[in-house]
Amino acid sequence: MRVLLVGGAGYIGSHTALAFLDGNHHVGVFDNFSTGDRGNIPEGCRVHEGDIMDGASLREALSQGWDAVVHLAAFKAAGESMERPEKYSRNNITGSLNLITGCTECGITSFILSSSAAVYGEPRYLPIDETHPTNPENYYGYTKLSIEGHLAWYDRLKELKFASLRYFNAAGYDIRGRMRGIERDPANLIPVVMETAVGSREKLLIFGDDYDTKDGTGVRDYIHVTDLADAHVRAAEYLHEHRSSLTVNLGSESGLSVQEILDKAREISGRPIPSVITGRRKGDPAKLVASSAYARELLGWKPEFSDLETIISSTWEV
Ligand code: UD1
Repeated sequence: MRVLLVGGAGYIGSHTALAFLDGNHHVGVFDNFSTGDRGNIPEGCRVHEGDIMDGASLREALSQGWDAVVHLAAFKAAGESMERPEKYSRNNITGSLNLITGCTECGITSFILSSSAAVYGEPRYLPIDETHPTNPENYYGYTKLSIEGHLAWYDRLKELKFASLRYFNAAGYDIRGRMRGIERDPANLIPVVMETAVGSREKLLIFGDDYDTKDGTGVRDYIHVTDLADAHVRAAEYLHEHRSSLTVNLGSESGLSVQEILDKAREISGRPIPSVITGRRKGDPAKLVASSAYARELLGWKPEFSDLETIISSTWEV
């Protein structure tokens, strides 16, 4: 297949590029390099520099005969989306619509969206399956939900088949050690822990130890980025073969606490990693754990590298 990864120079995009190349697919990367890095793009990808907000560069890239587009070009900081909604409206909604309409105009019939567990909001039950009500707690999550809605309409009206992949907490680095890029100015737990381990941050702030969880700290479902990347390839192949849209959760189905992550990072790195308990971060649920039964059933997907040890060691070794 010929696959264009929009936002392919980012953290998940570059790992997804590796997975498609490993599967002998032809890969293009379209990126504006605002947060992604050229150095992240694996060899063998054709690079198109451009922006989803710029019709001319987008049209030029989309008209190169792609079988599928994977859309990973979104801002993703949930907290920032509450402070600067315009930034998220513009890029995540208007930009995504430019991309979707560009695809139908260029005859592209398969679309893979990097969506998020943030579409669910505060969980009403656990594990969260795809029938769980969607009620985003932050604007970022709403932008993802909104694009899922537009895709459902474009499926009905224009036969654009889509796979919406609702990621839980992406973590880790390429299992074969081929990825060296570190995200710039990360806000997510594991990169922050690692920056503290190497001394570029003074200490880790633990956002609350009074949650109703195993040790009082927040629990999340961490999914290794190599497992996530593999799901994109399976989704593209599924759309190609079955011509039927799907929405699936991608998670490991197990919950890890902030404290467990920190303990394992201290063990693997051999560094002290200073930490201090502070107040809860606004909008953080106590616990999020996925059911990924549907992805297993539909895509034959199974996380292989999402255990705590592999997630932390693949991050530390970078
Ligand atoms: C959020 C979004 C997710 C998005 C991701 C990327 C929601 C529900 N989730 O995930 O969709 O893709 O951001 O930005 O909106 N923590 C600390 N100290 C830190 C950082 C984090 O204690 O310095 C804790 C948090 O309180 C949380 C856990 O670590 O319990 C994970 O946080 P984080 O990595 O930021 O991801 P989420 O907030 O779960």
